[in-house]
Amino acid sequence: MITINDVKKRYAGGRKDFWALDGVSLEIGENEFVAITGKSGSGKSTLLNMIGTLDSITSGSIIVDGKNISKFSGRKIAEYRNKTVGFVFQSFYLEPSYSVYDNVELPLVLSGKTGKKNRAHVVAALEAVGLGDRLKEKARNLSGGEQQRVAIARAIVNDPRYILADEPCGNLDSANSENIMHILKNLHAGGKTVIMVTHDPEDARKAERIVTMSDGKVIGDVRSV
Ligand SMILES: Nc1ncnc2c1ncn2[C@@H]1O[C@H](COP(=O)(O)OP(=O)(O)O)[C@@H](O)[C@H]1O
Ligand SMILES: [Mg+2]
Repeated sequence: MITINDVKKRYAGGRKDFWALDGVSLEIGENEFVAITGKSGSGKSTLLNMIGTLDSITSGSIIVDGKNISKFSGRKIAEYRNKTVGFVFQSFYLEPSYSVYDNVELPLVLSGKTGKKNRAHVVAALEAVGLGDRLKEKARNLSGGEQQRVAIARAIVNDPRYILADEPCGNLDSANSENIMHILKNLHAGGKTVIMVTHDPEDARKAERIVTMSDGKVIGDVRSV
């Protein structure tokens, strides 16, 4: 469970009176599928980055599974990013010269796991996104939709509780977007908590809860039936 308590964020170097997050409070339960939506600049990515410890908060707190992650530093942040959350970004961020296998194995290697025992995990993650037969392909040879599927496999290979996806369909055509949304729904059905930032109302409606942001605040929070 994620509890966000009155979180504010002011970027260093930004205007003193500008709050990218202006007092966000939100509770996200186990195995929810939440879409965070709102206009460009409303603070969606900022909020997701805070949940992922990719950036620090200015005030407030974020409690994940009973731990105040906003107080984490160094080793704890690295461990949290590696094991508790899995990130998916709009622009995939694969290592183009690496094989599909090596891209997906990376989080395991970063958590100190190497060798043959990784194979079952990597293959299972790639099978979950329908790419179990492309292990040796270089990432740069894949289509955008396939690259995003590899990025999702990489995000789930360490079996994190939370999938944090920031505009995962932002660079994809509608057929590939549908495929990615289907994969996210499957992960949710398999027990993951999925938090997806999107400006696309159609994608947002595929979640079971839609949180709407404006000017750094939550202005809507509805559950679909
Ligand atoms: N690193 C940064 N430095 C200064 N301002 C930033 C930074 N990142 C985002 N912002 C500002 O914070 C606001 C919210 O940004 P963001 O969370 O990226 O919005 P969204 O994802 O909803 O489009 C915007 O006004 C943006 O310009
Ligand atoms: Mg954004």
